[in-house]
Amino acid sequence: MSKFITEKKRTHYCGNLRPSHAGSEVVLMGWVHRRRDHGGVIFIDLRDREGLAQVVFNPEVNPEIHTEAHKLRSEYVIAVRGNVRLRPEDMINPSLKTGGIEVMVNDLEILNESKTPPFVLEDDVEISENIRLKYRYLDLRRHHVQQNLIFRNKVAAETRNYLQNKGFIEIETPFLTKSTPEGARDYLVPSRVNQGMFFALPQSPQIFKQLLMVSGFDKYYQIVKCFRDEDLRADRQPEFTQIDMEMSFISEDDIIQVNEELMAHLFKTALNRELRIPFPRITYKEAIERYGKDNPDTRFSIELKDISDIVKDSGFKVFSEVTKSGGIVKAIKVEDGKHLSRKDLDGLTDYAGIFGTKGLAWARVKENDWTSPIFKFLKPAEVQKINEKMEAIVGDLILFVADSPSIVNNALGNLRVRIAEKLGLIDREDLAFTWITEFPMFEYSDREKRFIATHHPFTSPTEEDIPLLNTDPGRVRARAYDLVLNGSEIGGGSIRIHKQDIQSMIFQALGLTEEETRAKFGFFLDALEYGTPPHGGIAFGLDRLIMIMTGAESIRDTIAFPKTQKATCLLTDAPSKVSIEQLMELSLKIV
Ligand code: AMO
Ligand code: AMP
Repeated sequence: MSKFITEKKRTHYCGNLRPSHAGSEVVLMGWVHRRRDHGGVIFIDLRDREGLAQVVFNPEVNPEIHTEAHKLRSEYVIAVRGNVRLRPEDMINPSLKTGGIEVMVNDLEILNESKTPPFVLEDDVEISENIRLKYRYLDLRRHHVQQNLIFRNKVAAETRNYLQNKGFIEIETPFLTKSTPEGARDYLVPSRVNQGMFFALPQSPQIFKQLLMVSGFDKYYQIVKCFRDEDLRADRQPEFTQIDMEMSFISEDDIIQVNEELMAHLFKTALNRELRIPFPRITYKEAIERYGKDNPDTRFSIELKDISDIVKDSGFKVFSEVTKSGGIVKAIKVEDGKHLSRKDLDGLTDYAGIFGTKGLAWARVKENDWTSPIFKFLKPAEVQKINEKMEAIVGDLILFVADSPSIVNNALGNLRVRIAEKLGLIDREDLAFTWITEFPMFEYSDREKRFIATHHPFTSPTEEDIPLLNTDPGRVRARAYDLVLNGSEIGGGSIRIHKQDIQSMIFQALGLTEEETRAKFGFFLDALEYGTPPHGGIAFGLDRLIMIMTGAESIRDTIAFPKTQKATCLLTDAPSKVSIEQLMELSLKIV
């Protein structure tokens, strides 16, 4: 057997061979994907990152090589030299890009053997995610998982292209830093040199990118890791990546425009999809009123309607009592409601319960009345007004929730999505972008018994609401905006505070004492006093964006080495215990 690999280089990727290569000699290197032994001739599907090529070992061409090929097993790494030829007409495989050709091998070198993999490396097999993540290096050999990362690379590269062309400068910011207030818990790193002291991994580069504006860089961006110790969901990871940017001497409209163009560029170059810009904008208030959420999926038309006024004196005690005690009654309409059975309604009632509802009333609209457990409690005029408000016609189904505004909006906001998914009302090809603007500056935290920043504390209040900071903080609106795509928050940002006195007022409104403010943000307040330009920015969740662009079901499918829902890495077994010596060096003790 000749060691031709040392003499000759690989000439082509397997997946790139085409009928136009017929007649040429090629050297391929890759993994044995499948092996078929047809008595005489052995067929191997040879795989590399670009795809599969069929390579053929024929005893009549080279008996010695053919004998060697009997040793080949799944995932062996081999090099072959051979001649490309067109497949006979009846052997063409139209579902494969290389299906028109095959390579007649006349030299083989086994570069490495492989143990039998713990799962079959095909796209369409069910494998438990724990096994996939433990053997992630094998999982990443599977075509569609590999394609997601190659696609991600394309989007990252096009992001850089676009932003560089617009005059943005990529600048790295530290990972070993001080706590950044984005609302999650910090990942802490103990300092050996300064015993008893800790760094925090950044939840975002927020403070540093603002400092870069103070320094005069004017347009900054970074594709950057962020770290947040928070409860994980299908679209959240403890470490994730942002496309992060900041600009000086701009307003909301400038940032929105740059980012609409960025999105249009990414969808065009990576997916060949044309986006219609500008995207629609709605205020936070309107989003909650109409969709119950600040990340509304606007691909389908079911909307929430407030019927509190109609039922405030109703004979249905639940409705009248809730409205009298500061709650609200809202409803959604499902057109042609017969597709939701009684059993479905029970299921939806249970689902709504997750959001704290005490019930889910329903009504099927008939010619002159309703079929509904609450019909008997309502006056005909109330029924008629509800029908009118809901624009309901015969056959429609109306669903009602009465409770505090937050429970009602949350429950119906999620129910409308659940129902749309169940009834197939969502066009999977659709791309519904919406900007959400005018977020409230603060939210009251029942747990902490104080106001917390809805976005983060560096967000500027709207000019006309500044007087409310001392009197009615809950009503102050922020110059913040989120970009929502198909019901997922893919990005968020704001115009920042660039005046030291207003920044101090915000910290005060958040209940921070003078000392706490100095200890946490003193360096930042100092910086604001040295000629800070007006500035603002935004950050996109790159993983989430890729998730939507690829149609991946989990954020983990967009990340090479993701963490589990329990924030562990099954591949490396992290986090893990450390030695006593390491702890002592850090002067740490486990209790
Ligand atoms: P924000 O906290 O809204 O803003 O984050 C920006 C975007 O990052 C994504 N994201 C996440 N993705 C995956 N896993 C997570 N745990 C996770 N958390 C957030 C979301 C979100 O829209 N510094 C500000 C930005 C700014 O004001 O410029 C910030 O971090 O898609
Ligand atoms: P009941 O009279 O308690 O059997 O309730 C009649 C209907 O009203 C049932 O379909 C309940 O699910 C529904 N219901 C009860 N409480 C609420 C509520 N807070 N909001 C909406 N519907 C409710």
